[in-house]
Amino acid sequence: MKIITVIGARPQFIKAAPVSRALRKHFDELIIHTGQHYDSNMSDIFFEELNIPKPDYHLHVGSSSHGKQTGEMLTNIEEILMKESPDYLLVYGDTNSTLAGALAAAKIHIPVVHIEAGLRSFNKKMPEEINRIMTDHVSDYLFCPTETAVKNLKAENITKNVFNIGDVMYDAVLYNRNLAGNSKIIQNLGINSKDYILITLHRAENTDDPNKMLAIIDAFKEIEKTKVWPIHPRTKNKLEQYGINLNEIPGLQVIDPVGYLDMLRLVMDAEKVMTDSGGVQKEAYFLNIPCVTLRDETEWVETVENGANLLVGSDAKKIVNAVYQPSNSSYPSVFGDGKASEAITKILMK
Ligand code: UD1
Ligand code: UDP
Repeated sequence: MKIITVIGARPQFIKAAPVSRALRKHFDELIIHTGQHYDSNMSDIFFEELNIPKPDYHLHVGSSSHGKQTGEMLTNIEEILMKESPDYLLVYGDTNSTLAGALAAAKIHIPVVHIEAGLRSFNKKMPEEINRIMTDHVSDYLFCPTETAVKNLKAENITKNVFNIGDVMYDAVLYNRNLAGNSKIIQNLGINSKDYILITLHRAENTDDPNKMLAIIDAFKEIEKTKVWPIHPRTKNKLEQYGINLNEIPGLQVIDPVGYLDMLRLVMDAEKVMTDSGGVQKEAYFLNIPCVTLRDETEWVETVENGANLLVGSDAKKIVNAVYQPSNSSYPSVFGDGKASEAITKILMK
């Protein structure tokens, strides 16, 4: 049986690593890389260090507006699907690459498999929320990471072929965490374990609003701790555009985006994580590191309910208070058993 996987953004490479490994024991898998992310430290590095098979097709769409980017992917993916006639089209998460892959396949009656189905922020201003809703509604197999995701789908009358199999990012963390222990990033940065805050920030709702960015930066200035920030290219560009100078933030090391193993090491050794990333919120949870989320809502509600994650939006006072607030650091398991990739493969083989 033939399966075509569409990936294009950093978190999708990481999710595809364990799933491809499991799928390829039983399926012929072809990979389409849309080219949504293209810098070597946003793309190639993950293929190399996680042994993800080289893409069979590379669309090189690059960056542009939502419509142009998604449209270009759609046209190209459709052409490949017509030529290859796969038994399934598989997509991950909620990016423009996800939506383009799902739409292209659904229109020509190729069964769509959505991994990380059912997530909702209930905020339609987020491009990701539109991508998720649309993708879930044209999918034939919906693999949910949590019970909340199953309930969200039920509330939209999606109940057929919905499976809670756990989170494939947990599979990736379990597979790679020992390897991440060998990373030298802590020594190389000259920082001490459990004595720094790890920052990531890239959501359009934050980066595209100069007032929010200024408030967040003000909070960073007030936090008298060592801070490490692997900066997303979107955020770097926006800060330059707003004329915001990060050199004014004491104790901050801004670094280029890092590979997955260095990133896992940075999460594991952090005192706390401050982020607006979906994936990083979960990784902090898997690794029992307290998280402060720079958003007003999260799709990963279990992390908040279990006291692992504080939602603070872009309110400077709330951000600072949350960072200094004592937190527990052992969280119950709610993201499955780390064997989601095998479970997906088994279901698709039936
Ligand atoms: C995308 C996803 C988001 C996901 C994130 C993961 C959508 C709508 N958004 O956001 O859900 O959380 O990926 O990181 O699909 N850029 C580069 N080099 C690159 C990639 C991007 O310089 O390799 C810059 C460009 O200026 C580009 C900007 O980043 O315009 C945004 O990139 P884009 O892929 O449109 O969205 P992300 O913010 O990365
Ligand atoms: N990540 C990484 N290097 C970095 C920043 C993040 O490898 O410099 C990893 C992170 O560990 C997680 C994934 O990228 O596995 C999250 O991607 P991102 O935050 O870009 O997107 P989101 O999860 O919010 O969609």
